[in-house]
Amino acid sequence: MRNDTVLFLLLFACLPLAGRVSAAAPPGAQLCEACHGPNGVSIQKTIPTIAGMSAFYLDGQILAYQKGRRYCPEGKTPAEPAGVMCAIAKRLSSAEYSAIDKYFAAQKFTAAKQSWDPKLASAGKQIHESECARCHTNGGSVADDDAGILAGQWSPYLQQAFQEYQSGNRVMPDQMKPKIDALRTDQVNALIQYYASESPP
Ligand code: HEC
Ligand code: HEC
Repeated sequence: MRNDTVLFLLLFACLPLAGRVSAAAPPGAQLCEACHGPNGVSIQKTIPTIAGMSAFYLDGQILAYQKGRRYCPEGKTPAEPAGVMCAIAKRLSSAEYSAIDKYFAAQKFTAAKQSWDPKLASAGKQIHESECARCHTNGGSVADDDAGILAGQWSPYLQQAFQEYQSGNRVMPDQMKPKIDALRTDQVNALIQYYASESPP
C-alpha cells in the first residue's frame, strides 16, 4: 500500500478514538495517541505503551523506522495497516518527532492490565537476571537504560518483538543478539510472563 493511502486510512480509522488528548500535547501527538492510547498508555495489546520511555530511545526508534533500520510489521487490524509506523515516521521532521517524543517521555508509564503465570514468571526472572539485567536494569523498568521499558509492557507486543528479533527482521544491539538468538521458545515465554508480572515503580 502507498504511504499516502495508509495515512488517509489512518485519519479515518483512528481520529474518532483520539478524544482524550491533553492540552500540552505538541502537534502530531494526537495521531500517535489514536493508536498508542491516551498519553501514550496503550489499551491495545499489539501496540506498545510509549509513555515514560526515554526521549533518546523514542527518537532512536522513530529514526530507525524512518531510515528502514527497524522493520515494520504486517498489518494486524484495519486500524493498524501494514508498515504503518514506517509511513508515519517518514512524515515527521526531526523537530516534530523530538517534540512529540519529549512529550511522551514526560508521561507516566502504566503497566498493562493483563494476567501472567507465576511459575513461568519466576523461571523468566532467573533468565532475565543472568542474561538481560546488565542492560535492562530493575526488571526492565528503567527508562534511563535507553532500551525501552519491558516491565508491564503488553505481552503480545513483546511476543512480536522477540519474533522479529529471532527471525532477523528487527536489528538488535550486537551484545544482545547472541543472548536473544540462544533463547528457546519456552524461555521466551517465561521472559514474557516475567515482564508481565513486573511494573515500573
Ligand atoms: C495506526 C497505529 C499507529 C499510529 C497512528 C502510531 N503508531 Fe507507533 N506503533 C504502532 C505499532 C503497531 C507499533 C509496533 C510496531 C513494531 O512492532 O515495530 C508501534 C511502535 C512504535 C514505537 C516503538 C516502541 C518500542 O517500544 O520500541 C514508537 C517509539 C512509536 N510507535 C511511536 C509513535 C509515534 C511518536 C507516533 C505518532 C507520531 C505513532 N507511533 C503513531 C502503531 C501506531
Ligand atoms: C548489551 C545490552 C543488552 C543486553 C545484554 C540485552 N539487551 Fe535488550 N535491548 C538493549 C537495547 C540497547 C535495546 C534497544 C534496542 C534498539 O534501540 O532497537 C534493547 C531492546 C530490547 C527489546 C525491545 C523493547 C521494545 O520496546 O521494543 C526487548 C524485548 C529486549 N531488549 C529483550 C532483551 C532480553 C530478553 C535480553 C536477555 C535475554 C536482552 N534484551 C539483553 C540492550 C540489551
